[in-house]
Amino acid sequence: MTTSTAVLPAARTAAKTGRAAKVIVVLQQKGGAGKTTIAVNTAACAGRSAVLSNGDESVGSPIVAAGIDVQGSLEKWCAAVREEALPFDYLVTKSKTGILPSIVEDPDRRRIIIDTPGFMDVDPDAEWGADPLGESRTADALREVLEVADLAIVPITPSKITWDECEFTIERVLKPRGIPFLVVINMHDPSKDKHETQLTKVKAWIDERNYPRVSDPIRRYTIHEHAYENGTLVTEYKMSGTALNAREDFMRVALTMEQML
Ligand SMILES: Nc1ncnc2c1ncn2[C@@H]1O[C@H](COP(=O)(O)OP(=O)(O)O)[C@@H](O)[C@H]1O
Ligand SMILES: [Mg+2]
Repeated sequence: MTTSTAVLPAARTAAKTGRAAKVIVVLQQKGGAGKTTIAVNTAACAGRSAVLSNGDESVGSPIVAAGIDVQGSLEKWCAAVREEALPFDYLVTKSKTGILPSIVEDPDRRRIIIDTPGFMDVDPDAEWGADPLGESRTADALREVLEVADLAIVPITPSKITWDECEFTIERVLKPRGIPFLVVINMHDPSKDKHETQLTKVKAWIDERNYPRVSDPIRRYTIHEHAYENGTLVTEYKMSGTALNAREDFMRVALTMEQML
C-alpha cells in the first residue's frame, strides 16, 4: 500500500507526548553501513507482528516507512515488493518538508521508521557545539525528522570504517538534541570472523562509550545484497537456515527498538 503524499503546508512540530505514533530515525553519517536495509527490514518485522486495530484495510497500516533522500532508495525498494507481501505503508517524500509532521499526527499510525541519507555536507570547520547538518534541502528534511524523533537507530560495522561517523552522529547530532539512540552492529560475517575477534572489538568500543546497543549483530549474508533489486524483504526470503537467521537478526532489532520506546 502506498500512502498518498499530498504536500501539506508545514505543520507545527508534533508534541512528542500525546500522539500515538513513535518516530524512529535510522541515522549514520557514513553511507553503506546499512541504513536503508535496516529501515526496510525493521519495518517489515514490525509490520508482520503489528496488530491491525480493526482489520479495516482502508485505515492503513500502523507501521509506516519513509525515506528522506532525493534519490528515494527506500521508496524504490518498497515499490518493487509485491503489494501483498508488504506489511507496512510507505511514504514518498523526496526530501520535501511538511509531509512527515502530518503523518506523525495520524492516530492510526503507531511506528514511523525513517531512512536517511548519509549527511556529507558537514562543515568540517564547524564549532563543536554548532549544528553540523549543513544547508541543503536534505539537511532541512533531516532537521524536521530529528524534531519529531523518539529514537534513533545508528548502524555500525565491525570494520572500523564506520566507527568515527557513528560517534560523530551520536555526539554531534543526537545527544545535543536529547534524542535517545540505539546502536546496532551490522555486517558481522560469521564465516570470516569465526572467533568473533572483530565483533568483540566493536562491542567493546560501543560499551566503553556507554552507548546502548542491540545485544547481537545483524549478520552479513549475500541474500541481503540482492534484496533491493529483487524487491524482497527479510520476512519474505525463501525458507532456509540463512533466511531464518537473517529474519532473527532483524526481529531482534525490532524488538529492542520496542523496548526503548
Ligand atoms: N547485513 C548485510 N549483509 C549483506 N549485505 C548487506 C547487509 N547490510 C547491508 N548490506 C548491503 O550493503 C550495501 C549498503 O547497505 P545500505 O542499506 O544501502 O546502506 P546505507 O543506506 O547506510 O547506505 C547494500 O548493497 C546492501 O545490500
Ligand atoms: Mg541508504
